[in-house]
Amino acid sequence: MARKFFVGGNWKCNGTTEEVKKIVTTLNEAEVPSEDAVEVVVSPPFVFLTLVKSLLRSDFHVAAQNCWVRKGGAFTGEISAGMLVNLGIPWVIIGHSERRALLNESNEFVGDKVMYALSQGLKVIACIGETLEQRESGSTMAVVAAQTKAIADKVTSWGNVVLAYEPVWAIGTGKVATPAQAQEVHCELRKWLHENVGAEIATSTRIIYGGSVNGANCKELAAQPDVDGFLVGGASLKPEFVDIIKSAT
Ligand code: G3P
Repeated sequence: MARKFFVGGNWKCNGTTEEVKKIVTTLNEAEVPSEDAVEVVVSPPFVFLTLVKSLLRSDFHVAAQNCWVRKGGAFTGEISAGMLVNLGIPWVIIGHSERRALLNESNEFVGDKVMYALSQGLKVIACIGETLEQRESGSTMAVVAAQTKAIADKVTSWGNVVLAYEPVWAIGTGKVATPAQAQEVHCELRKWLHENVGAEIATSTRIIYGGSVNGANCKELAAQPDVDGFLVGGASLKPEFVDIIKSAT
C-alpha cells in the first residue's frame, strides 16, 4: 500500500512572534504537492501554537512538542493532552531525544505518554534513535527496537502513530545519515513491526527520518523505499523547508 509522505517541522525552542509570523507567511505562500501526496505538520513552541494554528494554511497542520503523561492537575509547567485537544491541536511529538536526554524520559515513560496521548484523540509522532556511542558499539538496532517495544507494549491502535527515527548523532550536527544508513534502520524497524506487531501495521505505519535533513539531501533520502518522510529541525525554520516538502513528489 502507498504510505502518504509525511513532513514534520520541529521548531524546537525557537522564535518570536514576528519570526513565527514570517515563517507562516512563507509556508502559506508556498506552492507544494497536494495534501493527497504529502502531510505537512509544523510544531512551534507551546506559546505560539494558537497563533500558528490561526494563521497557517488549512492543508498544513500543527503539532505540540510534548504533552503530559496523564490527565491535567497538579503538574506545574506541564501541558495536558486535553488542553491540546481543546485548542484543536491534532498532533503531538513525543519522546524526542532532547527530552529523553535532558529530562531523563525513559522508554517506558515515552510509551505511557504515547498511549495516553492516543487515548485522548491526539495523533503522535513518536521519536526513537540511538546515540553515536551506541551506533559505534554496534547496538543501534537493539536500542531502537527497545524504544519501539516500549511504545508497542502500550499502543493498541497504530493508525495515528508516525514513527520518527532520529539518530541522535545526526540531530543538529550537520552529519546527516546516509541514505543507506537511514534505509537500513527503517527497513529493520519495519521488519520489527512485522514480527512483533503485525504485517498490516508494519506495512501501513509511516517511518520518517530526522537528523540534519535539508533542501540538498532530502531528495536522495526520500527516494529510499522505507523512508516515508522527515522530521526536520533547523531547516524547518528556513524557506528550504518548502523544498523538503516538495521532495515528496
Ligand atoms: O525533531 C527533529 C530534529 O531533532 C532534527 O533536528 O536540526 O538536525 O534537523 P535537525
